[in-house]
Amino acid sequence: MSGPSGCGKSTLLSIIGLLDTPTAGRYSLNGKTVENLDFAERSRIRNQEIGFIFQSFNLIGDLTVYENVELPLTYRQKMPTADRKARVMEALERVGMAHRVRHYPRIVRWSAATRGGGARVGREAFHSARG
Ligand SMILES: Nc1ncnc2c1ncn2[C@@H]1O[C@H](COP(=O)(O)OP(=O)(O)O)[C@@H](O)[C@H]1O
Ligand SMILES: [Mg+2]
Repeated sequence: MSGPSGCGKSTLLSIIGLLDTPTAGRYSLNGKTVENLDFAERSRIRNQEIGFIFQSFNLIGDLTVYENVELPLTYRQKMPTADRKARVMEALERVGMAHRVRHYPRIVRWSAATRGGGARVGREAFHSARG
């Protein structure tokens, strides 16, 4: 997405990411109308159906690479621990980061940190982000 400063890029991305709501208009995501959902339902959709890749990674420095990738999955109360562990390792292996699980983000080089951010958003979003 591109355009001059102030044209509404950040606003549109916030609406698409369910962080903000439009004052008018319709937004349907995966076939569901989402512009009028409550806070809890919006959080669930952000956690399970949307992946955010930040320009500045937004990895948490006090958590290891493994813990950073695991964090959003810990918010899914119904996900068994074994499934969570398997998904984290699968995501990290896919981006060539499995050997970094115990490292902290600050000692992982830039391109690897970007991949860590990608792994954290989940499989579907990561594939589409890579094109
Ligand atoms: N569709 C819109 N209608 C009215 N105001 C808007 C709209 N989109 C954005 N704005 C307002 O315009 C300003 C700049 O928007 P912003 O999303 O920060 O632009 P950008 O990220 O492209 O620089 C903000 O005050 C925002 O609330
Ligand atoms: Mg902006």
